[in-house]
Amino acid sequence: MSKLFSPASLRGLNLRNRTVIAPMCQYSAIDGFVNDWHMVHLGRFAMGGFGLILFEATGVTAEGRISYGDLGIWKDEHVAPLARIVDFLHSQGAAAGIQLAHAGRKASTPVTWNTEAVKTPEGRASVGFEQWTPVAPSAVAHSDDPSFTVPTALDLAGIKGVVDAFAAGAKRALAAGFDTVEIHAAHGYLLNQFLSPLANKRTDEYGGSRENRMRLPLEVVAAVRAVWPEDKPLLVRISVSDNHPDGWQVEDSVAFAKELKALGVDAIDCSSGGFDGAIINSVAHYQVPFAQAVRDGADIPTIAVGLIDEAHQAEAVIARGEADFVALARGALDDPNWALHANHILGEDKYTLWPVQTKRIESLDRSLKRRSYAD
Ligand SMILES: Cc1cc2nc3c(=O)[nH]c(=O)nc-3n(C[C@H](O)[C@H](O)[C@H](O)COP(=O)(O)O)c2cc1C
Repeated sequence: MSKLFSPASLRGLNLRNRTVIAPMCQYSAIDGFVNDWHMVHLGRFAMGGFGLILFEATGVTAEGRISYGDLGIWKDEHVAPLARIVDFLHSQGAAAGIQLAHAGRKASTPVTWNTEAVKTPEGRASVGFEQWTPVAPSAVAHSDDPSFTVPTALDLAGIKGVVDAFAAGAKRALAAGFDTVEIHAAHGYLLNQFLSPLANKRTDEYGGSRENRMRLPLEVVAAVRAVWPEDKPLLVRISVSDNHPDGWQVEDSVAFAKELKALGVDAIDCSSGGFDGAIINSVAHYQVPFAQAVRDGADIPTIAVGLIDEAHQAEAVIARGEADFVALARGALDDPNWALHANHILGEDKYTLWPVQTKRIESLDRSLKRRSYAD
């Protein structure tokens, strides 16, 4: 019996298997709204057998978007189009989660493939071009790259506004029918900027010691948990390590994960990096040890992500107890049916995951003597 394809529960959420679609920015929205691109992009993963599909980083404020093409959830009008996609994912047996995000000083960056389009007013209008000054813990730019603007340091009212925006975003996510929300505290974005000494140069109660640097992320999590139903799980994505000698380290993440667990977080999505100067060797499964360190150190379920592609190896991550879930991003872009295919390799009941409309694939397999019918 495959562990990867065994059902899992987080609070009242029952997942058909332990495969997850990692959040993937599409930079294809205007004014934060999902459109047909997002429906097809996400819908094919639900048809493709994944257990949980996480929508991309979705701005809890307009200024919190990485780019003008990001999804948003800062106004009630965003809810109905999101709900349409959530309903479709549910119709295919997948659970739906949304990554609530604020990019902080990494906001208002260009969409690379629109470089030509934004040279004319018509082009700018056609892609919904916008530009603004980002906010951050401290008025320090992410890097020398001209894509990044020197941000304005948040004052205490601004910090309170961030907490309120995440809570309001969670309420809208609930209205849209999401099964879970994932708070984005990774990849050098706003909450990660507060956590990391590389970006947080504050001297008030939100900077300095690790306890102070964790304060805003923990306030956000508490505020979201307060409005997110008891029976629905709450996820947090962290950069377990900044992969930088002067940055946030694995032991910091273990301490943080213990606090998150105490606040009612149900699983930690374990990524890494996001700051200028980070160094890591990106080889297959390179972040799995981070998921294991957090799982073992804080006694909390984890999602492993990063260059996980081969079915047996993904199975081994779960079977060896290195993580509780396995997430894919690029591998799923390459093969949106990855979970269906992995289930053929690992699972027992091989055709049940396929959407009913596609079940004639079994006769194709039988005729070609492949998959279950291979000698
Ligand atoms: C196109 C693309 C968009 C991404 N957007 C996000 C995002 O919105 N939020 C996030 O936390 N990570 C994002 N990531 C990172 C992925 O979620 C994932 O952690 C990373 O790609 C490693 O997994 P992989 O090796 O399976 O691609 C993105 C990755 C890709 C390839």
